[in-house]
Amino acid sequence: MNRPTFDVVVIGGGAAGLMAAMRAGQRGRRVLLLDHAEKVGKKILISGGGRCNFTNTGAAPERFISANPHFCKSALARYTQHDFIALVDKHGIAWHEKTLGQLFCDGSARQIVAMLLAECAAVSVDVRVAHRVTNIERSDRFRVTTDQGAFEATAVVLATGGLSIPKMGASGFAHDWARRFGLKMTQTRPGLVPLTLKAPELAPELAGVSLDVVARCGKTSFREAMLFTHRGLSGPAVLQISSYWHPGEQISIDLLPGVDAAQFLKERHHARPKAERRTLLAEAMPQRAAQFFETVKPEQLNDWRIAPTGTEGYAKAEVTVGGIDTAGLSSQTMAARAVPGLFAIGEAVDVTGWLGGYNFQWAWSSGWAAGEAL
Ligand code: FDA
Repeated sequence: MNRPTFDVVVIGGGAAGLMAAMRAGQRGRRVLLLDHAEKVGKKILISGGGRCNFTNTGAAPERFISANPHFCKSALARYTQHDFIALVDKHGIAWHEKTLGQLFCDGSARQIVAMLLAECAAVSVDVRVAHRVTNIERSDRFRVTTDQGAFEATAVVLATGGLSIPKMGASGFAHDWARRFGLKMTQTRPGLVPLTLKAPELAPELAGVSLDVVARCGKTSFREAMLFTHRGLSGPAVLQISSYWHPGEQISIDLLPGVDAAQFLKERHHARPKAERRTLLAEAMPQRAAQFFETVKPEQLNDWRIAPTGTEGYAKAEVTVGGIDTAGLSSQTMAARAVPGLFAIGEAVDVTGWLGGYNFQWAWSSGWAAGEAL
């Protein structure tokens, strides 16, 4: 059987795979990029409401979650947010900072995919979509079998992402194959995901109401907007804290950040003794929320304890927390320590960023690190 030979087969044409393929190609490697979908970069296309929040000016190791918080440091330092911004600028893609260092395209996420494909084409990366990988074997070389033929290469990169949004083709492929090659996995769970509540915390009548809060779980807290939903809570503050939350734990929400609620109510009550508490509270939060929280003790407004019943799951999760255990990978190159020629990058690996462009930055940085070593 005729098996075309490459230096590298990258499996998964998402953010990380495209970056690794581009960099390996720039270094003169013959690269094949395989994806099972009919087009590459689908998550890039839908990200950031179609404008792709492609990085964050504040990207730093502390903003990533991993069983080994040091693992991401090397890759993030060697290919930074500034490197990616320079690439975006080189392609004349206009962008803006929205909030909290989040950078978005002025136009469309399609520009980011087009940029990566142009870079790959410039170095003759062979991009093939609609290829289902059915087997990966390793002897002196790797043999990757697909439903459209087999390919040989000295290196294989697992870049098929995490488990989030199965409807869009997310699969456990990288995790399964990493396991088969003897790599360990950390526990996986949905991250950046809405949380579900039950009564009396659940307030479906408030669905759509948003307020500025501080959400806290353990030592971690985020001050951003919180949104009530029909099933529980969402909005950036809750999505962020969801990545740190484990079932059974409580989350504390400060509904009046920077305001001593008891003091505030006392003062307002003094000034307007006849006003109902909901009226006084409505001076500091949306009226519908004020109505819901009027029976809560004043000091609890700064520490509303909720015990989520769960999350909305991978169907609604922006990312997967956990993945391929970094203990089995080189932090310099993303190469599997025990399997020469095997690499794992992007969301498939146990490194998860905050909301706000951090997950793409990890994809770019880890993809670059592998591309430099392939
Ligand atoms: P990614 O998921 O991008 O790519 C994996 C690729 O592998 C896909 O092309 C897929 O088709 C392919 N694949 C999967 N299984 C395969 C198989 N069995 N065989 C072959 N190919 C296979 N992050 C951020 O920083 N800013 C943002 O604005 C957003 N917005 C956002 C919105 C939504 C709705 C979601 C779901 C996620 C985000 N994210 C985000 C997160 C971000 O999209 C995510 O972390 C990165 O895309 C991960 O990049 P990877 O390349 O690792 O996987």
